[in-house]
Amino acid sequence: MREVYSKRHRRDWRSRLWRALQPPPPYIHNPQEPLDFPLGRWNLYVGGAGARPEGYVNLDLFAVPGVDIAADAERLPFPDGLFARIECDAVLEHVSNAEGVVAELSRVLAPGGYMHVVTPFCHPFHQYPRDFRRFTLDGLKLLGGSDLELVAEGWRTGPTATLLVFFLEYVKLLLPWKLWRVAAHGILGWLLFPLRYLDLLLLRSENARILGNHCYLWWRKKQVI
Ligand SMILES: C[S@@+](CC[C@H](N)C(=O)[O-])C[C@H]1O[C@@H](n2cnc3c(N)ncnc32)[C@H](O)[C@@H]1O
Repeated sequence: MREVYSKRHRRDWRSRLWRALQPPPPYIHNPQEPLDFPLGRWNLYVGGAGARPEGYVNLDLFAVPGVDIAADAERLPFPDGLFARIECDAVLEHVSNAEGVVAELSRVLAPGGYMHVVTPFCHPFHQYPRDFRRFTLDGLKLLGGSDLELVAEGWRTGPTATLLVFFLEYVKLLLPWKLWRVAAHGILGWLLFPLRYLDLLLLRSENARILGNHCYLWWRKKQVI
């Protein structure tokens, strides 16, 4: 995993050229997803290896550049109620005990604080470093304990993202050599990415959930009276 992250940030000209040639992602984010719940003095980003999320303590299993604390989200090294906001984006499919992680995140969230969770539904197998499960929105909601109230829910990426990511992976499965797979990813990625904008239309429908790619929800921790 460390090698994967370090490759993404190498600064030699070959690596920079390589990154510049990469096609745009085959998905766009739903503009209806709320992102502006308040930050506080201390905020936690879970699973941000390879990123530097500004304003957050960045926690990940791996101590790579950008990570502030290397720890397992199942046993967080923080006191109760420390964080005003928590981001947990595309992590719960990689932990062995998703319910336990949500309970642990809820423990370190301050009363009145906000937790944003994003998880894949129709998405290819991908190991970081393991891959255990997928979530519907209803399944994701079940993970929240009685101290969390739901304040928003929906789909971040839609049916077209699903089709494109599966199609790209399917074509790569047919190709025996890595060089061919890399070329196919580049060429098809550039040709097909404009289709991603169809999701702006599809995500307006309730039925987007049938083939949704990633779903999100926001919880607020209840105030103790
Ligand atoms: C799919 S990546 C998500 C990266 C980023 N949040 C994003 O959406 O681009 C999953 C991340 O979760 C981390 N991770 C996996 N299991 C973890 C655990 N038990 N505790 C903390 N981080 C974990 C991985 O190392 C990886 O960086």
